[in-house]
Amino acid sequence: EGSTKPPAQNWSFAGPVGKFDRGALQRGLKVYKEVCSSCHGLSFVAFRNLAESGGPGYSVAQAQAFASEYKVKDGPNDQGDMFERPGRPADYFPSPFPNEQAARAANGGAFPPDLSLITKARSYGRGFPMFLIDFFTQYQEQGPDYVAALLQGYEDKPPAGVTLPEGSYYNKYFPGHAIKMPKPLNDGQVTFDDGSPATVAQYSKDVTTFLMWAAEPHMEARKALGLQVFVFLILLTVLLYFTKKKVWANAH
Ligand code: HEM
Repeated sequence: EGSTKPPAQNWSFAGPVGKFDRGALQRGLKVYKEVCSSCHGLSFVAFRNLAESGGPGYSVAQAQAFASEYKVKDGPNDQGDMFERPGRPADYFPSPFPNEQAARAANGGAFPPDLSLITKARSYGRGFPMFLIDFFTQYQEQGPDYVAALLQGYEDKPPAGVTLPEGSYYNKYFPGHAIKMPKPLNDGQVTFDDGSPATVAQYSKDVTTFLMWAAEPHMEARKALGLQVFVFLILLTVLLYFTKKKVWANAH
């Protein structure tokens, strides 16, 4: 039972000055669209977000073109009917199934979770006082580490002596090892136009970076502000120290 600890990766977005790798975000979006989106929703992300600063770096026109490739349910119209129309920037990514029951029915009873917050949902597993250690050791990246490892953690056969339940697959990193998600990524499955390798390792890293951005689209702004606050507080400390010295210069 149990599961293997996911190896820690060097994420560009880790640490106090971390930033998202734009290329990785764009490639990760492609992997999500072409592979994951057939089972997993991304319902907290709107197409317009793709053109916001700190994200994949698309223009508003590009986000609009991307949105229009999707069919979005709308209505009721004047006749009271529901209808489908091309997506617009204000729309959110459409989900692959109308509800949880339909999603489970199509996946052998298992529910493919919405991926909007998955890198956070699989992170911060440890509470007080261990989070203090996590803070300084960047254990905060455990969510992305896990997702990237999970996608690469499939084995063709379970180890000797282990039998899998019907409809399950063996994954080194999934708690309990028996996962109902079939191995989603294979080499050569998605083509990148920037020359990045078409490998499971590359896909996993890119789609995880994309999902980290989806979960925290304002991370870059948050970290930049945090840094400014620290610089300000240090300057203020120095200033207050000399102010105190001057004010108390004649005290006996
Ligand atoms: C579960 C990611 C593609 C079906 C999951 C989980 C993640 C994930 C992070 C949660 C694992 C956990 O609970 O710790 C992805 C990514 C994909 C992808 C990034 C694309 C690269 C797919 C596809 C399918 C699918 C194509 C359907 C054919 C499922 C199901 C579960 C699941 C059924 C629930 C598994 C269980 O609870 O046993 N996926 N997935 N996924 N995924 Fe995917």
